[in-house]
Amino acid sequence: MTPQAGVKKQGGRLVSRMGDVWRQDFQSLMRADGGAARLAFLDNAASAHKPEAVLEAIANALEGPYANIHRGLYRNSAEMTRRYEEARQVVAEFLGAPVGGIVFTRNATEAVNLVAASWGRANLKAGDAVLLSELEHHANIVPWQLLRDAVGIEIRVAGIDEHGALDMADVEAHLADGNVGLVALTQMSNVLGVQPDVAKVVKLAHLAGAKVLVDGSQGAVHGPQNMKQLGADFYVCTGHKLYGPTGIGVLASTPELLNAMPPYQGGGDMIESVTWDKTTYAPAPARFEAGTPAFVEAMGLAAAIQYVQGLGWKDIQKHESEMATYLDNALDAAMVLRYGMAGRGHGIAAFNVPKCHPHDVATVLDQHNVAVRSGHHCAMPLMAKLGIDGCLRASIGLYTVKEDIDQLVEGLHKAAKLLRR
Ligand code: ALA
Repeated sequence: MTPQAGVKKQGGRLVSRMGDVWRQDFQSLMRADGGAARLAFLDNAASAHKPEAVLEAIANALEGPYANIHRGLYRNSAEMTRRYEEARQVVAEFLGAPVGGIVFTRNATEAVNLVAASWGRANLKAGDAVLLSELEHHANIVPWQLLRDAVGIEIRVAGIDEHGALDMADVEAHLADGNVGLVALTQMSNVLGVQPDVAKVVKLAHLAGAKVLVDGSQGAVHGPQNMKQLGADFYVCTGHKLYGPTGIGVLASTPELLNAMPPYQGGGDMIESVTWDKTTYAPAPARFEAGTPAFVEAMGLAAAIQYVQGLGWKDIQKHESEMATYLDNALDAAMVLRYGMAGRGHGIAAFNVPKCHPHDVATVLDQHNVAVRSGHHCAMPLMAKLGIDGCLRASIGLYTVKEDIDQLVEGLHKAAKLLRR
């Protein structure tokens, strides 16, 4: 881990070049920098690079002493079990949730599917509604459509205004008849960077008798959470965007709520006893972790959380906020068509270059060693709302520096010149 990350002493003056210093912890970025040309990686909303601390934690777990967890009475198994449960504790503290309410899943998508299939099927019936918003990505749309097709619930969608801000009056209107059983809302749009007032929606939803699932896929990346304060019933997030490995995600809730839910998948580890006639289930969180869990990945996620905590969230947020503003201003100056002005300042920017297809622009950017995402961003209904087939998206991470954004702008100028010829 970087000692005193982000602070270099120059001529007796403390100079903060945090992104530059932190970047050195990310071998995959440094290796790219060492190549023919520097890589400006601005696709962090899709997946973030991993610091050395995470690679080490994963290698450590695999190199041994290695064993499966929860199954062996021998020392190595007991030790791996201890480390897995320690990882759960790290996640619980990061999310401000009870440790017994932390379920490890494959990713945020699986966590939403778990809630839809388990809580949803047990608690919602035909005539009940689930309220979503126009900001949602497919992970927080399709599981509810599957539930609708299975049990006949209604899906309601709260609108956004021309800047991408959630229409709170519309939220209230949808809640008014008391038929909404659950509100499932993003904490931060993966396309526009918009951050709805989730705490306010939680209050309104609870007053209307609805539970709330908050999709923290993007939100959790930018700071620790306090689920208790937020008041949400379910919170989901994923490891690979949070500088951790792929294959690990989290559903956070309370043990009370989880224990009242039926299992989602059956298998080993989630049972209390099994006979040919009847199976009884373990209490949460084991009840929702059927089969051998991704325990190595969970340790990797815990290492990622400890790594960012070691850098200091305050410093990260300060640096990211500076980079987000720099990105906004650079895109303004580059005269792109920007979408979702309510998301400015959050480090996720959606835009198009006038008269150019986003895929063509992304291809030219790639030739300029700039990585951004182009397309519908797994949010086709939002694209339809914006009246476009797709767009470009630049998204920052803690290691983003001004040079990345300058390189993006140079690439955009190059693309415009080339494609408009
Ligand atoms: N949900 C991820 C993204 O926004 C994959 O790119």
